[in-house]
Amino acid sequence: MSSLPRAPVAIVAAMHEELSALLAQMPDEQRVRVAGRDFWVGHLQGQPVVAVLSRIGKVAAAVTATVLIERFGVRAIVFTGVAGGLAPGVKVGDVVVATELLQHDMDASPLFPKHEVPLMGMARFAADAAIGNALAAVAADVLRDPVALVGQQAVDEFSLRQPGVHRGLLVSGDRFVSTTAESEALQRELPDALAVEMEGAAMAQVCQDYGVPFAAMRTISDRADDAAHGDFARFVVEVASRYSLALVGAWLATLPAQDAGSGAAT
Ligand code: ADE
Repeated sequence: MSSLPRAPVAIVAAMHEELSALLAQMPDEQRVRVAGRDFWVGHLQGQPVVAVLSRIGKVAAAVTATVLIERFGVRAIVFTGVAGGLAPGVKVGDVVVATELLQHDMDASPLFPKHEVPLMGMARFAADAAIGNALAAVAADVLRDPVALVGQQAVDEFSLRQPGVHRGLLVSGDRFVSTTAESEALQRELPDALAVEMEGAAMAQVCQDYGVPFAAMRTISDRADDAAHGDFARFVVEVASRYSLALVGAWLATLPAQDAGSGAAT
C-alpha cells in the first residue's frame, strides 16, 4: 500500500526578519512566485511546509491565505508575528495564542451588528483549538528560559522578565494602534481582547470560508500606546524572530513524522 505525501502546513510570517529566520532552517526550500509573493516550499523539522510573508494588513493577509489554500493545498495555516498588548497584564515579551479572532474595524451598522462580517452572521472566528493548545504548550516550555532563547542583552534591553503565555481574543484592523486613547477605546469596546494586530482575523475569515484550520501566535512587541513605535524594528530582530523560530520549530517537531517515501527532509 503506498502512502500519499501529506499536504503541507503553511507558516505565515508578518515580518521579513521572521521569515528569514524560518528560511535559514529549511534545508530544501524552493521559491514559487504567485500574486507578487514568494512562497517557499520545503521542509522544517522534517515536516512539509510552505513559508510566506503575509505582507501587512487584512487584504494582503486574505490574498496570501487564499493562494496558500487554492494553489498549495495547505492543510492548516499558522500565523506568527507581533502584536500590541491591550488587556492589562499582557506585556512586552509575552505570547498570545488566539482562541478566536475579530476585525475591530468592521462596522456595517446599522445594517448589521458592529464587528459582524456581513452575510457571514459572525464577528468572531474560532482558531483551531488543537493547534492553539499545542502552540501554547510549547510556548510555555520555551519561554521558561528567556535568556537561552534571546540572550541576556535582549532580556535586559526589553525587560523580558518571566514572559507569559495568554490564550484568548486577538483583534485585527488596518491600523497600527499607537495612541493610548485608541488603545483604551478598543479595550472599552472589546474588554476581552488580549492584543491587536493587522492580519489575523482576515486570515481566519478566509480559513473559515474554506474549512481550513487556522492558528495565530503573536509576540507582544508594544502596548499599543503612545510609546508603541519605540524599538519596534530591533525588537522584531532580537526577540520576535527568535520566539517565532523556536515556537514554530518546537510545534512542528510535535507532529507525527512525515509518511515514508514522501521525500521529507531528515
Ligand atoms: N503589531 C504590533 N504592534 C501593533 C500595534 N500596536 N497595532 C497594530 N498592529 C501591531
